[in-house]
Amino acid sequence: MSSPLRFDGRVVLVTGAGGGLGRAYALAFAERGASVVVNDLGGDFKGHGKSSSAADKVVAEIRAKGGKAVANYDSVEAGEKLVQTALEAFGRIDILINNAGILRDRSFTRISDEDWDIIHKVHLRGSFLVTRAAWSHMKNQNFGRIIMTSSAAGIYGNFGQANYSAAKLGLLGLANTLAVEGRKYNIHCNTIAPTAGSRLTQTIMPQDMLDAFKPEYVAPLVLWLCHESCQENSGLFEVGAGWIGKLRWERSLGAIVRQKNQPMTPEDVQNKWAKICDFSDANKPQTIQESVSMLNDVLSRIESQDVSPNPTSYSASRSSTGFEPAQSIGQKLPSITYEYTHLQPILYALGVGMSTKDPDHLKFLFEGSEGFCCLPTFGVIPAQSSMLDGGLSSIPGLNIDFTKVLHGEQYLELYKLLPTSGKLTSEATIADILDKGSGAVIVLDVHTYSGKDLLCYNQFSVFVVGAGGFGGKRSSEKAKITVNPPNRPPDATITDVTTVDQAALYRLSGDWNPLHIEPGFAALGGFQKPILHGLCSFGFAARHVLKHFANNDVTKFKAIKIRFAKPVFPGQTLQTEMWKEGNRIHIQTKVKETGDIAITGAYVDLTPSSDQPSAKAVGLKSDLVFEEIGRRIKEVGNELVKKVNAVFQWNITKDKKTAVQWTIDLKNGSGELYQGPAHGKADTIFTLSDDDFVDLVLGKINPQKEQRNLPYTDTGHLKPSGSVLMTWTTIDSPGFKILKILSKLLESLLRLQFHF
Ligand code: NAI
Repeated sequence: MSSPLRFDGRVVLVTGAGGGLGRAYALAFAERGASVVVNDLGGDFKGHGKSSSAADKVVAEIRAKGGKAVANYDSVEAGEKLVQTALEAFGRIDILINNAGILRDRSFTRISDEDWDIIHKVHLRGSFLVTRAAWSHMKNQNFGRIIMTSSAAGIYGNFGQANYSAAKLGLLGLANTLAVEGRKYNIHCNTIAPTAGSRLTQTIMPQDMLDAFKPEYVAPLVLWLCHESCQENSGLFEVGAGWIGKLRWERSLGAIVRQKNQPMTPEDVQNKWAKICDFSDANKPQTIQESVSMLNDVLSRIESQDVSPNPTSYSASRSSTGFEPAQSIGQKLPSITYEYTHLQPILYALGVGMSTKDPDHLKFLFEGSEGFCCLPTFGVIPAQSSMLDGGLSSIPGLNIDFTKVLHGEQYLELYKLLPTSGKLTSEATIADILDKGSGAVIVLDVHTYSGKDLLCYNQFSVFVVGAGGFGGKRSSEKAKITVNPPNRPPDATITDVTTVDQAALYRLSGDWNPLHIEPGFAALGGFQKPILHGLCSFGFAARHVLKHFANNDVTKFKAIKIRFAKPVFPGQTLQTEMWKEGNRIHIQTKVKETGDIAITGAYVDLTPSSDQPSAKAVGLKSDLVFEEIGRRIKEVGNELVKKVNAVFQWNITKDKKTAVQWTIDLKNGSGELYQGPAHGKADTIFTLSDDDFVDLVLGKINPQKEQRNLPYTDTGHLKPSGSVLMTWTTIDSPGFKILKILSKLLESLLRLQFHF
């Protein structure tokens, strides 16, 4: 059996506690250890007159049983005074039961102004005034429980009670909003619609009913709702005769009545009436966000003319999750312009933990310093609005509840150094949508340009909790993949403390989500306090790599991929472990205090450093060809990317060992050539000797004709043969395309009279 619910040390104010339901509450709270303020004006049930005897009698009853109680005789319209009594007698106020009430029942046309006003003053305005007086005390002590007393007359309507019904349902509206505002302060507000025998009901209930519907059958619900262990908030309960039920709103799926570019008429509504009122498969929205979230989808569905001439129901042609990936994939978001001065890169650098304590950091923090530059990860800032500013909601087929969106992964690749000021344009496309069961992952590609120059490419992976199960694929070749670190102790570790204001500072770079600063909002998301932005930890980790492996030289930064695994709280210590594998630095970031891994599967790709053997250093002939390829890509890379759309990695061997690796990326951005393995996944990997490569380019080996050296199998594979070893990771056509490009190159190389 559960232990008794006690209220020792709690101070309870019950309005209208001189009789009926209020008295039952006051006695029950006192019996369980609470100190009770018994408020009652002591008038008649129509609100005439006053007397102290009602409250005094209940106080005497409580005291006679050894309980603690004081009386208050003010009308609830004097809100402050009631709370003052609690503070003076007991020093605090924890629980407020808004219960006082009167009746002025009349059929509607006979309701006088006074009948209307007094009912509103006592029930609605009285509850407002007393609650407002108690609110700041509850807020300061981070605890409060409030009950509003509504009525079935308000919920369903009742003959002769128009004034009372209006005020009683007004209390429900008041409670709903107080529940939202109070949640972050542990102030809960619930509403009851009781049925009990009392002087209010004695004229309408026969005696046997009055006896059967005891107020004592309502009090236990009120006590439970007000206990510190009860997490119920914003509930509405009908209660009486020993029965309790909870109420909620239900909304039909409804129908889209309007068609694009056509007037919406009452006849359209009439035609859809049955569907609008059909409650089969109805929704039960619990928050205003849930309630309105579908309207964006409705708008985009109308705009995209995804409504037949005789529109079916809103729900008829969409999945139960609101995702229509087929419709959304490939859609472009409205382009975004980001204009900035030197201020933003500096603010960003501070946001990701740069400090003047480190002299190395000055070039990121002082616009007058020699070599003033942007941190490479500043590249996420111009692009992030695509994800943050509701652009996703403009996409047809994406019905996203933005309170359920998590930033899962991030990839950033730089093609050019980021300017320290300027006007950049970002173009975002939904690259893919994956179905992960528990949620959906939206893969969003964002290309950021300065004029026509492509500066960087971001891939945001956005996880939408609860949106999975639409029957989509689980993975995508378009998604940049995470890579686990090598299985050995890290080569280097950097430890860095975030400040308690880290998120407050980082958000100034444009991510204004209150989750990162507002404790109440964080609590709504299930966090004990505001969390650091994932992209802030991302900035820290990238900075650690740049410092340790590139001496803070931003020209060495190429790309970064990260998965956000666990939240970090401002003030915690980040520990970035790093493993060097060629030009790739694998990273993992832990929260030192907890050991939690915050960033996983991550890596930073650097451009080749001087400690790596370059082609020239080992004297390879193929080097000249690659230089020429690099030049060509700079000229016509954009076109090649459109035509080829593949990444080729070349392992050039000398004396049977890999002497150098080159990657020709004709898939991303405007294409590029770089030394080293492919930054993501290569579509094709060629492994061949320096000599064979040159022969291939010079046409001495023609892979399309010469069976001897490079025979094809009937599936299109290239077979390893003789001295030429070619490994294909895909069997599709990209390999053929690159060979065609190479043979075109041959012409220009011959024209340039290269000699090997
Ligand atoms: P009741 O008449 O026994 O209790 C109401 C108390 O409020 C009275 O003692 C009265 O003196 C006091 N009061 C009236 N105006 C006041 C004011 N301006 N300031 C301070 N105290 C004031 O009636 P009952 O049934 O116990 O009602 C309690 C609450 O429950 C009321 O809000 C009523 O509208 C509500 N309610 C009761 C139902 C029932 O079946 N008894 C049904 C639905 C709602």
